[in-house]
Amino acid sequence: MVLPDAEDNGALSKEGVLKKETKMSIFIDCIEALKAFLVAYMTSIWRFFVSPPNKSVTGEIVLITGSGSGIGRRLALEFGKLGAVLVLWDIDDKANEETGNLMKKFDAKFHLYKCDVGIKDEVKKVGRRVKEEVGDVAILINNAGIVSGTKLINTPDDMIEKVFRVNLLAHYWTVKFFMPTMIRKNHGHIVNIASSTGLVGINKLTEYCASKFGVVGFTEVLSYELIFGGHDGVHTTLVCPSYVETGMFEGCKMRFPWILPPLKVSYTVEKIMQAILTNQQMICIPRSIYFFTFLKTILPVEAFHEIIKLFGAANFMDSFIGRQNSETEEKTNGFHNGHDTVKT
Ligand SMILES: NC(=O)c1ccc[n+]([C@@H]2O[C@H](COP(=O)([O-])OP(=O)(O)OC[C@H]3O[C@@H](n4cnc5c(N)ncnc54)[C@H](O)[C@@H]3O)[C@@H](O)[C@H]2O)c1
Repeated sequence: MVLPDAEDNGALSKEGVLKKETKMSIFIDCIEALKAFLVAYMTSIWRFFVSPPNKSVTGEIVLITGSGSGIGRRLALEFGKLGAVLVLWDIDDKANEETGNLMKKFDAKFHLYKCDVGIKDEVKKVGRRVKEEVGDVAILINNAGIVSGTKLINTPDDMIEKVFRVNLLAHYWTVKFFMPTMIRKNHGHIVNIASSTGLVGINKLTEYCASKFGVVGFTEVLSYELIFGGHDGVHTTLVCPSYVETGMFEGCKMRFPWILPPLKVSYTVEKIMQAILTNQQMICIPRSIYFFTFLKTILPVEAFHEIIKLFGAANFMDSFIGRQNSETEEKTNGFHNGHDTVKT
């Protein structure tokens, strides 16, 4: 091992050995980085036009949190159709049983568990049961989420804490529990359902947006740890949808629905499935979310405020009803408003 002297900075080599940095070694690193950058850039342009082949999930154990409704339920049905073994977690066991009933219609293999993902010890306890009763989880989908939809000043402290526990901390507990086996086998996939509000904030959603910004950061660094750690068989996918018609944001209105339309659950899940099956690292639905995120990074802050005000971010939540006042059809019958019926 060569130790750096007082003037030169040391850097770790791929083998973890401290090597001496010289002007030449930095130059070579820059050339290699440029080469890798160009390859990555060309590959992503190629993938824009030609989708890579889907991976097989037949027989894989797929765990979905918040599977009793909306996006989670639909994901369960899609993975079930592909022959995966589903492990379905929800705090609402009646809603989860309904998902199970829908899965039975096409003989999908599934296991239902009641679990409050916001409670660390419960995640560990139910996680141990899953390992014993079903096996090693290969695909983990952190989907459970809640929202209060009130101004910061009117949001009770315990609600703020609960949103962080369910929307963000739960990701830590599930990933810490299931990822070690994925790393040991160098085989697995962690999917985190964040939101477009984890990239660009919306009025009256402080704790929700902050928790989703947290999921974005969590997934980014998790992917670094896996990639830089050499665990190339364990993938991550960050999902950032805008408004989806599941009932979670019941009552909210988009100002220009022809630019940012409310998303159908079926369309959203089709895009998420495509991203997972092709090991895509991040997906924004619709694509225009990438553009808003880009604008945010290049425009002066005040100029960007005018854009989001124009697009209704200031008033999106004004007509919010949410789940507490609207026991939506979806929880019991399938999908919201009759727009999205479950195809079995
Ligand atoms: N609906 C949207 O417009 C939208 C947009 C972007 C992102 N998202 C995100 O997508 C995910 C799914 O949202 P959805 O619209 O399908 O919501 P949903 O309300 O239809 O489903 C959420 C499910 O999570 C379960 N859940 C809630 N708290 C739980 C807990 N503590 N432990 C276990 N399960 C719990 C609920 O019982 C429910 O079945 C959420 O993370 C949400 O933040 C939703």
